Amino acid sequence: MPVTHCVFDAYGTLFDVAAAARLTAGQPGQEKLAEVWPKLAADWRAKQLQYTWLRAITGDYMSFWEVTKDGLDWAMEASGLDDPVLRETLLALYWELPAYKEVPKMLATLKAKGFQTAILSNGSPDMLEGAVDYAGVGMWLDATLSVESVGVFKPAKAVYDMVGARFETDPSEVMFVSSNGWDAASAAQYGFNTVWVNRAGEPMDRLPVEPSHVLTDLSTIPDLAGQL
Ligand code: LAC
Repeated sequence: MPVTHCVFDAYGTLFDVAAAARLTAGQPGQEKLAEVWPKLAADWRAKQLQYTWLRAITGDYMSFWEVTKDGLDWAMEASGLDDPVLRETLLALYWELPAYKEVPKMLATLKAKGFQTAILSNGSPDMLEGAVDYAGVGMWLDATLSVESVGVFKPAKAVYDMVGARFETDPSEVMFVSSNGWDAASAAQYGFNTVWVNRAGEPMDRLPVEPSHVLTDLSTIPDLAGQL
């Protein structure tokens, strides 16, 4: 069946998660952060994701906002940053992450071509609403689906089931787009058409199913969706 729905991961895919540390590091008085921000950003993201996977396995769900705070606390300690004001600054920026520059045009083009569009994310509904509002892309999204409604993180099958439950689609009609190789691979195993947006040129994850397509950014998504 042709693709009729384009569904996007949020963090790292539509919204630049490294921006919180990068932008704060450029501010006056942040010399210490300026030295370590790439490690801080990488540790923060890695721990945030590890905690989601572990909590998905053990069944100890808590909101992505709490997981995000735990990941930052680990990352700040690992970089020797003991600064409650900096912590609050970094966390506040997580609600105002910039979208990647091609995102507005890409979503507007998908809507102009008649596709249904959605976010499917680990993010809590309030975090996602903040990010969508800040980026000004809400007018091109038909739904923002948060795992909070199923109480488990990706890559649990219950999360990918949310798309069919919301839109009454078959997985073959869905193109799922993620910058997280593991998310794209898990969605491919689920049965979606998948795109891995590999901005950093990382190796393919060694998982049971590979994503069907690999792109370096989102700009050609409308063309690809029209061909599937
Ligand atoms: C999300 C994370 C995995 O938005 O990036 O679901």
